[in-house]
Amino acid sequence: MKIVIIGAGRIAWHLGKRLRSKGMPVAQVISRTAENAEALAEILHAQWTVVPAEILPDADWVIVAVKDDAITEVAEAFAPYAAHALVTHTSGGTAGAVLARFYERYGVFYPLQSFSREHTPVWSKIPFCVDAAHPEDVLMLKKIAKTIGNLVYRVTDDQRALLHVAAVFANNFANRCFAIAEKILDEKDLPFELLHPLMEETLAKALQDSPERMQTGPAMRGDNDTVSRHMQLLQKHPEWQEIYRILSEDINPNIHAVNH
Ligand SMILES: NC(=O)c1ccc[n+]([C@@H]2O[C@H](COP(=O)([O-])OP(=O)(O)OC[C@H]3O[C@@H](n4cnc5c(N)ncnc54)[C@H](OP(=O)(O)O)[C@@H]3O)[C@@H](O)[C@H]2O)c1
Repeated sequence: MKIVIIGAGRIAWHLGKRLRSKGMPVAQVISRTAENAEALAEILHAQWTVVPAEILPDADWVIVAVKDDAITEVAEAFAPYAAHALVTHTSGGTAGAVLARFYERYGVFYPLQSFSREHTPVWSKIPFCVDAAHPEDVLMLKKIAKTIGNLVYRVTDDQRALLHVAAVFANNFANRCFAIAEKILDEKDLPFELLHPLMEETLAKALQDSPERMQTGPAMRGDNDTVSRHMQLLQKHPEWQEIYRILSEDINPNIHAVNH
């Protein structure tokens, strides 16, 4: 199978290296910036170009791994030259259907994990959410995902759109709450390490059972006085106060998270 990756960012690097290590080498890297395309191509022992018309004419699978806002534009630019290939993007927050305007065989190959250049992904623990317009392409994507990972799910556009919202809550917002906690401790010269065991316990419990059932804290208990005191202590940070109020009232609609 001839694989082409468009993009030379984090996903293209990690996915390209993983595909190669599993016997599915990428034949060509195409990216907007020549030096990025060349650098990745060198690692992958692949050809590279920045010109859409130079895409390998016999490409079987084209992976569009560019930033979400550029997917449609990139898909359109390559459409005249990759009409017969299966073209998939890797985005959680973009419908596969955006490719339908340009390709007959299109789909999504979305690894649900946060990738960074510094960390080697633990592939066996990454869920792959795949989908395609044709059943035989779904099967092929599932097979590839199973080879490079372990957890494979067929997830439709509708499902993935909300899965991505859920992932923002579970990852980005949870992390923002950790960051706020760190800043609050910092203001009182306390080390963030103080909270590490609690954070570990929170995650362990949420993984063990439904987080809904695992909820604790003053709002859950209906401790209005404590909640009001916390609101007062956050007076210097109205934006954190607002987050505190919204989350407290979401945990317990009967709580009075007022700022006296
Ligand atoms: N990183 C993650 O954790 C993660 C996880 C799952 C899915 N994804 C998805 O994977 C895709 C790629 O993400 P990434 O993290 O690899 O992004 P990234 O590291 O920021 O790399 C983005 C790539 O897109 C290219 N690009 C940006 N704007 C472009 C434009 N207007 N036209 C053409 N190319 C353009 C960049 O080209 P240059 O080299 O020229 O800058 C770069 O190669 C996204 O759809 C993202 O949602 C990411």
